[in-house]
Amino acid sequence: MIEELENEKLLQKFEQIADRLSEKGYAIVDNFLEAQEVRNLLDVLSHHQEQGTFKKAGIGASSQLQVDKEVRGDYIRWIEPQNALPPTQVFLDRMDEVMHYINRTCYLGLKDYEFHFTVYPPGSVYKRHIDQFKTNDHRKLSFICYLNEDWLPEHGGNLRLYLPKENGEEEVDILPIAGRLACFRADLIPHEVLVATRHRYSLTGWMLDQLKELTFL
Ligand code: OGA
Ligand code: MN
Repeated sequence: MIEELENEKLLQKFEQIADRLSEKGYAIVDNFLEAQEVRNLLDVLSHHQEQGTFKKAGIGASSQLQVDKEVRGDYIRWIEPQNALPPTQVFLDRMDEVMHYINRTCYLGLKDYEFHFTVYPPGSVYKRHIDQFKTNDHRKLSFICYLNEDWLPEHGGNLRLYLPKENGEEEVDILPIAGRLACFRADLIPHEVLVATRHRYSLTGWMLDQLKELTFL
């Protein structure tokens, strides 16, 4: 019974994602991850930090990777699904369900996804950009799941979306609070990460219309 209720709640969240994406090109869903799931993922994240496997993030596809701290100040650690620890596997399974749900309702032909753990040290930003690469257009949807417990507006670190309007643009600011999912069209929506006073943690990734191993061919 409890399990049925949980499934029902998750389905409602998937529905929200699909509806808002097709109506507005973006969706914000709170409590996409439960508090305990967030805590488990934070444990995995600090384990990876202790292993020293985070790397300075670059700009552009791998063939022309540049690192520019002024433009992008985060550190990332790609998830290898075959080696994922249990909390990461739970997360990937959830994203798999999301992908199949979206394919049944939005016809984007999604085939795969790629995710990394992300850390923005205090003071770092990611300046305005679009997630789809110039050199390949397989990233269709961007997803960010925030892992920041007790995050307050004064900590900053908003994700700012620039939504296209008839006369210019509308800005939407989204606080990176624990359990919240932000997703948007990777080809259409410029966005940036504003400066924060605390470390800012998330899982960030993309749904692709091609298998991951084929996207860089
Ligand atoms: C990105 C990005 C937004 C965020 O990694 O490409 O735009 O809120 N992240 O972390
Ligand atoms: Mn981005």
